[in-house]
Amino acid sequence: MKKLYGVIGNPIAHSMSPDIHNAALKDLGLDGHYHAFKVEEDSLEDAVKGIRALGLQGINVTVPHKVSIMDHLDHIDESAKVLGAVNTVRREGDKLVGYNTDGEGFVKSLMRILDKPISELSFLMIGAGGAARAIFTTIVRDNPEKFDICNRTIEKAKQLTESAPSFRNVEVLSIKEAEERLEQYDVIIHTTSVGMYPNVEDIPLSLQRAESSAVVCDIVYNPIQTSLLKEAKQKGLKTLDGVGMFVEQAALSFRLWTGHEPDVEKMRSIVVGKLGGK
Ligand code: ATR
Repeated sequence: MKKLYGVIGNPIAHSMSPDIHNAALKDLGLDGHYHAFKVEEDSLEDAVKGIRALGLQGINVTVPHKVSIMDHLDHIDESAKVLGAVNTVRREGDKLVGYNTDGEGFVKSLMRILDKPISELSFLMIGAGGAARAIFTTIVRDNPEKFDICNRTIEKAKQLTESAPSFRNVEVLSIKEAEERLEQYDVIIHTTSVGMYPNVEDIPLSLQRAESSAVVCDIVYNPIQTSLLKEAKQKGLKTLDGVGMFVEQAALSFRLWTGHEPDVEKMRSIVVGKLGGK
């Protein structure tokens, strides 16, 4: 019988997850279908009951349900516990188990372009929201030389450092302070919504002082070439766009559900095609 998968969120109409998951199911000859479900905040409990009753095999979870869904699941995997958020649910027998593949997805895409292990690198992250938490808690497990966080609201960056209390090589900075010492970092990761469509001219910080060997990553993927990445390219720096994290987190969910390896490059080209990018 056809196995069913999906994503729940709101808004969800423009989600590209159905495109990439359905293509991967088809390519691998798996009899399944992936659908986007719009679920309002006050309907989440009913939606999870529906997932159970209708026998869906796997679900991605996006805004605004990533945290609240935890109350409705049978078990939370360590990957989601440390983040306090779930982006993937897998049916395991009659139980629904919550996972989070966001942090690992980012690190997988980053590892494709790094030529040194994380333990030999120093990081700066801009932002302290949900995506930042996933990336910070995943990278500090590999004990980087340094991992500083700057954010518009400093207090939120301080709170984020408390999610990995055993990691000590971390400083919390204002955006201005980070700009002034940018030459200290090998990898600069932008995790806020600054520069996202339609505010495509906005830039989260100036890269003027970045080292020529630095790598600049933006998790925004609409547009694919954000103003930050354009500035990085103009300076001749290596860049990583947000499509990488999006497809890698999707591929990890797909593996969890099916046990099969999807073609990540094909997933990427579907997303790039839909965004009309390069
Ligand atoms: P997500 O789950 O996508 O990471 P989030 O949890 O709402 O989203 O976090 C949003 C992040 O973007 C925060 O770091 C936020 O900064 P504040 O903590 O100061 O709110 C940052 N952010 C959003 N809009 C911003 C803006 N216009 N300028 C600077 N930072 C912004």
